[in-house]
Amino acid sequence: MLAGKKIVLGVTGGIAVYKAVDLVSRLRKQKAEVKVVMTQSATKFVAPLTFQEISANPVVVSMWDEIHEYSIEHIALAAWADLFVVAPATANIIGKMAAGIADDMLSTTVMATNAPVLVCPAMNSNMYTNAVTQQNLATLKGRGFFIMEPGYGLMACGTTGPGRLPEPAEIVTAIEGHFARSLDLRGNHVLVTAGGTREAIDPVRYIGNRSSGKMGYAIAEAALARGASVTLVSTASLPSPAGATVIKVESAEEMRQAVMAAYDAADIVIKAAAVADYRPMIVADKKIKKAADDSLTIVLQRNPDILQELGSRKTHQFLVGFAAETHDLEAYAKEKIAKKNLDMIVANDVTASGAGFGTETNIVKFLFPDGSKAELACLPKREVADKLFDEVVKRLPANARQA
Ligand code: PMT
Repeated sequence: MLAGKKIVLGVTGGIAVYKAVDLVSRLRKQKAEVKVVMTQSATKFVAPLTFQEISANPVVVSMWDEIHEYSIEHIALAAWADLFVVAPATANIIGKMAAGIADDMLSTTVMATNAPVLVCPAMNSNMYTNAVTQQNLATLKGRGFFIMEPGYGLMACGTTGPGRLPEPAEIVTAIEGHFARSLDLRGNHVLVTAGGTREAIDPVRYIGNRSSGKMGYAIAEAALARGASVTLVSTASLPSPAGATVIKVESAEEMRQAVMAAYDAADIVIKAAAVADYRPMIVADKKIKKAADDSLTIVLQRNPDILQELGSRKTHQFLVGFAAETHDLEAYAKEKIAKKNLDMIVANDVTASGAGFGTETNIVKFLFPDGSKAELACLPKREVADKLFDEVVKRLPANARQA
């Protein structure tokens, strides 16, 4: 997604500078080219050499550094950038950008660029909520700058509130989202389910499964990065993908209700969640105590098959199911395509090493109602998600909504 994209990262002086190092590393892993401009204050937290090594490019701090590679540095860097990211962005740089002050390398380069600018604020909560900062951010927004919401939580200064630098993974998603704006899922609403359902036995126990939610979250992130709007119905406690509407549920019945409520507005539905086929027929209202006999019987009853219901009510949606199997993968997956009226199924043998539950990678086959199929190697779940959307996009009706 980011291969070959040219990103200038402006780093200003705050405790969150260390996260910017991780950000550069993540961008480089995605094969983006990154050049870093630091303010003098930023260098008090992390040495330029660290960014130089991670970015594999010289780092500029002063207007008067002698880096011959960039002819007149601020102009050359400004022109080179496909995207300018300021992270962490202190109240000071936000104020300078809003007021048009160009008194160092970073503020001068930002002023000289025609590239879009993504600002990731990070500062003490009181500084962030201060009317001047809010006004400056509004000014920048009005001029077309992209502003990320800071995270909320305990700050290095001991206060709790808004002002934490968004996590590097969220910034990467926002950057991908920027480059995806002209891409293929723009204008589509994607509904994704993730995680394993929990079926209550009593107030403290449940029947669950091994799904971590990683596959579903990777799908949600890929959809966002390609410009879609996303509703994620999830049982998992992973960090929410930036920009997604996340609906937390526990049981299959709760998931069913959330999915049905979001179904009409969805263009593409991807059911990566592992839904319990059965739930206890009776949920004890008090904790079940040990009895004298050695066994305990819990009678189960069938849960609704959410995907099958979606298939039977399908109007315009492109419906993608998953099949988690331990044997006869293709046969069962084909059966599910027909039974649940799917447009595509992602089949994974959850016994294979590197595939299925809890892993960072997956090994999947895509199968389609016309009998065609594609088999993927072991890939990170995020790459599986992108390959999945490559297939979906090829099959979306020509009149599918595109911006
Ligand atoms: O979450 P991770 O740890 O990353 O693991 C990923 C995964 C293994 C959970 C994922 O890759 C996967 O295979 N998800 C589907 C798991 C599953 O429930 O498979 P199934 O073959 O039992 O169900 C088939 C399809 O019907 C699935 O899309 C499922 O969401 C849906 N279903 C099943 C039962 C039910 N009552 N309602 C449903 O909607």
